[in-house]
Amino acid sequence: MAKETKKLRVGIIGTGGIAHSHARAYLQMEDVQIVGGADIVPGKARKFLDEFELNSAKDFEDHEELLKMDLDAVSVCTYNTTHAVCTINALNKGVHVLCEKPMSVTLSDAKAMDAAAKKSGKILTIGFQPRYDPNMLMIKDIIQSGTLGKVYYVQTGGGRRRGIPGGTFIDKELAGVGALADIGCYGLDMALNSIGYPKPLTVSAYASSYFGTNPKYYKDADKFTVDDFSSAFIRLEGDIVLDFRMSWAIHMDTMGDTIFLGTDAGLKVKPAGYGTPWGGAWDGTIGPVFMYHDVCGNMAETAIPIKTQPFDRFFAKVRAFVDAVALGGEAPIPCSQILYNQAIIDGIIRSSESGREVTIEL
Ligand SMILES: NC(=O)c1ccc[n+]([C@@H]2O[C@H](COP(=O)([O-])OP(=O)(O)OC[C@H]3O[C@@H](n4cnc5c(N)ncnc54)[C@H](O)[C@@H]3O)[C@@H](O)[C@H]2O)c1
Repeated sequence: MAKETKKLRVGIIGTGGIAHSHARAYLQMEDVQIVGGADIVPGKARKFLDEFELNSAKDFEDHEELLKMDLDAVSVCTYNTTHAVCTINALNKGVHVLCEKPMSVTLSDAKAMDAAAKKSGKILTIGFQPRYDPNMLMIKDIIQSGTLGKVYYVQTGGGRRRGIPGGTFIDKELAGVGALADIGCYGLDMALNSIGYPKPLTVSAYASSYFGTNPKYYKDADKFTVDDFSSAFIRLEGDIVLDFRMSWAIHMDTMGDTIFLGTDAGLKVKPAGYGTPWGGAWDGTIGPVFMYHDVCGNMAETAIPIKTQPFDRFFAKVRAFVDAVALGGEAPIPCSQILYNQAIIDGIIRSSESGREVTIEL
């Protein structure tokens, strides 16, 4: 008779939109069992669990009640402002955490989450699924191979022409930050991860909310309390500058391609959905990639072939977490890196509010 291995006991905190992709991924895994869910909205966790026919899984309104169960791991899928409290409480109970992006709203919360992970010895990983995209891995490989020479300038972000989300994303009390953290954290992660996550040093930034607060462009303008546009000039360790732009709405097709300038070659990554209202941002998917380099003294442009086979990045993200938990490995996306991402977001907020360049203190 085959030896039965113990299934990993998993809970989901926050059973809104993105929690569905976590549940779908866990349910494809024979070595995982979803044993409970929690959501502060009465009845929401039960409805969610029933949707997946998880009849024996327990539902709670308070995540601390869920954490009293015998759990190995949780997905924290709450809105941004409650990532920190749910993550820290889970780690303090000795439970591994996959927390959704952005890591948190403030740098101090991100530091507290990192400290809780270190103290508990448990895994805390952040849900940046674009990292697992085969094309993203290829871009990182190209840059890490040294083909570009020394990379000294990176431009990233792009921006949506019209793509303001709704729900909890536009409310400062719940989301904390708008486009900057929602999709800006992807552009930052994709660019910084490609060049090895150098430490950020200073930020000079601008942020505004002209579209979200205007009923001409957004139907819930009276409820809109976050940013919808930001741009920043960020100095990184190693004599690298990062020119960042991100928007949920602008009068432009995109704020630009992602570009990496190196001493031997340059790499351009176009937004995947270019030409569509939501498609001008580097917020998770990869469009056409081109390399600019000299061949025997001639300036050349090479189209790098993109992999087009379907790939479930959401499954890959959750599986990487489960593998790390099951095998006792390191966090697949460590918070030591994502602290830098959060520090830049924090710097952009501070700089845009004060109207001057700020230093990043880590
Ligand atoms: N990785 C991705 O592609 C992706 C996509 C969408 C959203 N997200 C991230 O996932 C998070 C949630 O987004 P969403 O679209 O699912 O939002 P949502 O508003 O649909 O769901 C969040 C849920 O969390 C619940 N909640 C909040 N605080 C809680 C607490 N303390 N305990 C229990 N439940 C709590 C809310 O009631 C709500 O049901 C955000 O941080 C967002 O940035 C990631």
